[in-house]
Amino acid sequence: MEKLVIHGGNRLSGEIEISGAKNAAVAIIPATLLAQDVCRIENIPNISDVSCMVRILSQMGAQIRYINKHTIEINTKTVNSYIVPYEMTKQLRASYYLIGALLGRYSRAKVALPGGCNFGVRPIDLHIKGFELLGAKTTVEENAMINASADMLTGSPIYMDKVSVGATINVMLAAVKARGLTIIENAAKEPHIVDLANFLNAMGADVRGAGTDVIKIHGVSNLHGCTYAIIPDQIEAGTYMAAAAATGGDVLIKNVIPKHLESITAKLIECGVKVTEYDDSVRVQSDGKFKRINLKTMPHPGFPTDMQPQMAVLLSVAEGTSLVSEGVWDNRFKYIDQLMRMGADVQVDGTMAVFQGVKELMGAPVKADDLRAGAAMIIAGLMARGTTEIEDIIYIDRGYEDYVDKLRNVGADIYRKEISQTSSDAVSAG
Ligand code: EPZ
Repeated sequence: MEKLVIHGGNRLSGEIEISGAKNAAVAIIPATLLAQDVCRIENIPNISDVSCMVRILSQMGAQIRYINKHTIEINTKTVNSYIVPYEMTKQLRASYYLIGALLGRYSRAKVALPGGCNFGVRPIDLHIKGFELLGAKTTVEENAMINASADMLTGSPIYMDKVSVGATINVMLAAVKARGLTIIENAAKEPHIVDLANFLNAMGADVRGAGTDVIKIHGVSNLHGCTYAIIPDQIEAGTYMAAAAATGGDVLIKNVIPKHLESITAKLIECGVKVTEYDDSVRVQSDGKFKRINLKTMPHPGFPTDMQPQMAVLLSVAEGTSLVSEGVWDNRFKYIDQLMRMGADVQVDGTMAVFQGVKELMGAPVKADDLRAGAAMIIAGLMARGTTEIEDIIYIDRGYEDYVDKLRNVGADIYRKEISQTSSDAVSAG
């Protein structure tokens, strides 16, 4: 097992290249089950969430070939089962997309519910509502198996009571080969929803309106293979923008789509950070001092919840009082316990956190509670005085490709260190 060691205080300077979008990749890979010949996917991020999803498809019988580190060919012709047991799905929360994809392929799916991140309840009632409106009888059986089946999936109007990325994606996967027209209202509008729609249309589907709150899907009888390049990861980009700002640095973040970063750019500028947009890159410059702001996370195009912890680190040293309101998840402030170990002054009350800016953060031993919380701890460590050690970094490996190298290349003093079992025992016994 490894931990991160960060000696804070270095200003980041130079260039960082952004990888493909995790949340697009984990939807597009299962979508290949809808075609029965080769799909070539480019700009795949080299992260453990993606390798987990690829491993699941391979265990289901798909033929998978890595052309290079970021390009993969998947042929699901040899997949011959609609059953996915828990030992496969438990590796990855997004494995529930296999329900929609298998329903789309077989009109049947028997998929064990996966685990989940640890920030609040992760229901799937909207997914099930969508499947049932398409005509699939859906039950939850022993071993948390979701059993969904239909004689023939039939298009239907589906109103999403809450904006849900996962439910929107799962219904799209089930509906592209359903008979007739499906209309998803109050659909999620994230860039990865649009990326999945573009991938499905490249396979011959008829999906219109992705990126708006009404997505119309005319079912088709067959989908074919295709070649498709995944969009850059806007959350990875935002994370490095926050890291550059936190250290008072000057960094060019390359291979981005500036439009996908609009809300992040706007809030950084409101904090006093200089952000310059180019065609496929953004430059972030900061003196390391921040104005207080209020932040509310919302579904896209609002400020993304997956950037809330990273942005909050800047607010912990912004002069004055900043309010952070988490508008998507019930309990996404667990990381604040770790931030307070570094000297942050924060009051949490439900989905609201009040930050009293302090002069500086101090290095400390902390841990990553989840993927984005871990990213926030890295930013805090880069900014803090002294040394920060971060445990449970397996969470961070899920969503950030080569993050230690990318940060070292712009001057961060950060490295991975083996944890000897005795030292961690000592801490837990302390
Ligand atoms: C996706 O999760 C992302 N994960 C999350 O990113 C992200 O935080 C979230 O969307 C919001 O943008 C992936 O794409 C793999 P939701 P998802 O369904 O689909 C409620 C990361 O760090 N809800 O949009 O699970 C739900 O409880 C991860 O990359 C229902 O009530 O999120 C939440 O309050 C963390 N019923 C809200 O909707 C449902 O059936 C939004 O959830 C589904 C969701």
